[in-house]
Amino acid sequence: MVRAGSDRRPDSHGRAYAAKHYKSPQSKSCTLTPFRLHSKMPCKAISTLLVVFLLFAGQFVAAHPGANDLPPRRRVTQGQRTKSLLINPPALPQLPTADAVAATDDPLNIDNIQADILAGMHKDKELFFFFSVNDATTFKSKLKSDILPLITTTRQILAVNTQPITAAVNIAFSSTGLVTLGVDSTAIGDSDFVAGQFSETDTIGDNPSLWNSAFTGTGIHGVFLLASDTIDNINTELANIQSILGSSITEIHRLQGAARPGSESGHEHFGFMDGIAQPAVNGFTNPVLPGQTSVNAGVFLLGEQDDPNQGSRPSWAVDGSFLVFRQLQQLVPEFNQFLTDHPLDTDTLTPEQGSELLGARMVGRWKSGAPVFLSPTADDPELGADRNRNNDFNYLIASDPAPGTENHFNQTRCPFSAHIRKVHPRGDLDPSVENQHFIIRSSIPYGPEVTNAEAASSTTSVDRGLAFVSYQSNIFNGFVFLQSIWINSVGFPFGKVDPTVGVDPIIGSLGGGPKNISGLDPAVPCPDADNCMGQLDVSHDVVLPRGTYASITSGPIWGVISY
Ligand code: HEM
Repeated sequence: MVRAGSDRRPDSHGRAYAAKHYKSPQSKSCTLTPFRLHSKMPCKAISTLLVVFLLFAGQFVAAHPGANDLPPRRRVTQGQRTKSLLINPPALPQLPTADAVAATDDPLNIDNIQADILAGMHKDKELFFFFSVNDATTFKSKLKSDILPLITTTRQILAVNTQPITAAVNIAFSSTGLVTLGVDSTAIGDSDFVAGQFSETDTIGDNPSLWNSAFTGTGIHGVFLLASDTIDNINTELANIQSILGSSITEIHRLQGAARPGSESGHEHFGFMDGIAQPAVNGFTNPVLPGQTSVNAGVFLLGEQDDPNQGSRPSWAVDGSFLVFRQLQQLVPEFNQFLTDHPLDTDTLTPEQGSELLGARMVGRWKSGAPVFLSPTADDPELGADRNRNNDFNYLIASDPAPGTENHFNQTRCPFSAHIRKVHPRGDLDPSVENQHFIIRSSIPYGPEVTNAEAASSTTSVDRGLAFVSYQSNIFNGFVFLQSIWINSVGFPFGKVDPTVGVDPIIGSLGGGPKNISGLDPAVPCPDADNCMGQLDVSHDVVLPRGTYASITSGPIWGVISY
């Protein structure tokens, strides 16, 4: 449904819904108002950085008044790529071809959308280069003449021979970045973007004292995302950009991401295949895989159908998206030690198998990507690697072992608290509610593999984790809602047999304190046992947010140039 001209606040439904339906029993010190979570007493610290990504491209730019003097889009002049700059694990949805996009009912303008937004988590190497602007006049001039032609579009990323030779380049601006460049950031219509993530640490449950100082102020004006198959290529493109922009920018922070080596490619640092479940975007995804939910592009792209603020976005923001970046440190040796210390089902499984089962139930998938709901007792690598089957389930009905079993109140197959159930309840809620909170994830691991010394001591000494990226057209409905209302709510999914499900065992936090998570042990199924909850005390957070940033991509670049 197109809601042209709507003046509804982009986040009004989400916050009102949250205020009405969600209150976490272990978050009593936080109260919800329709538009903001307020802390009466210290809740949990937050650390999120909001960035807006601005993309602009041929057609949009050409259609914009005054755009005729913009430089042409970059053509491939140094030959063509023969090797993709992306990885392609069989478990993940494949990207469509440009022809397949064109064959959809109402194709999106893939020349006007920055490459990273719809492509998802397929990068081999990716650098996040955060900068501030010192000289707005020079920066804007160079942006228009030399950076714009470097920006990689969605069309370009879809085929190897149209991908850039060196590195794909995307850019996004923070609210303070836009203001520095003379753009009214409030005109975009997203209060969380304007507020900035450091002001929302309470809401999302972060401890701000853990944040990298680069993210704590308002000094970051923008971020370049550089992706390629080698770090040398990325460094070459970064040197090119730095030489173009000279002293008009200053580096604030950089984070180098890389797919893990060998057979771990596509797996995050705890060892689980990541990037499997992504929503299908109407006008882009083709074919739609079994189990993928199709949603309108406006859930992710500003100004498109189902963008809650569709009618009132500035024209230059259309086809942009809000990027939320989070530097999430993962304590891998500590996570592994926790699994070793708490093997499940020791009657029938070896301790190693019992530990593996616990990890799988905390995530909701085995390391291969096979969902525990479909394969509850052991990993099934063939299922995990089969993109036509590994996402084809919901949490309500299982055909085995008891056909027609109602799983709404039963977590034998998958705990209510499992990470993937917390962030996508697949039938636990009405689809009209669930489907508003989809994000496109485009993250990548950062940091080296666990060293022998770390494994031996079960203690992290080297920083590694996930450079988390999500895209959404409304920051509250997307990232903030998932993190604050679903992940960190002890009672969510609400209305189950257990009112204290617990926070997400992977990324939920109760301010660093112990977390009682129910349903992790299938040997105590509900409703057959007195203690049907199978509660386990996950005593330490294994993911530590080190900073968050939000920005806008796509149309906004054009906004920067034209103001
Ligand atoms: C270090 C932190 C994290 C780790 C290790 C992690 C790991 C995973 C893994 C292994 C999966 C299953 C594979 C897949 O479908 O992609 C997954 C799914 C998912 N994660 Fe995370 N994740 C992390 C942080 C987050 C955060 C911060 C959010 C959002 C606020 C999030 C949202 C999601 C969503 C929406 C899914 C798909 C669920 C589904 O549709 O079934 N994750 N994650």
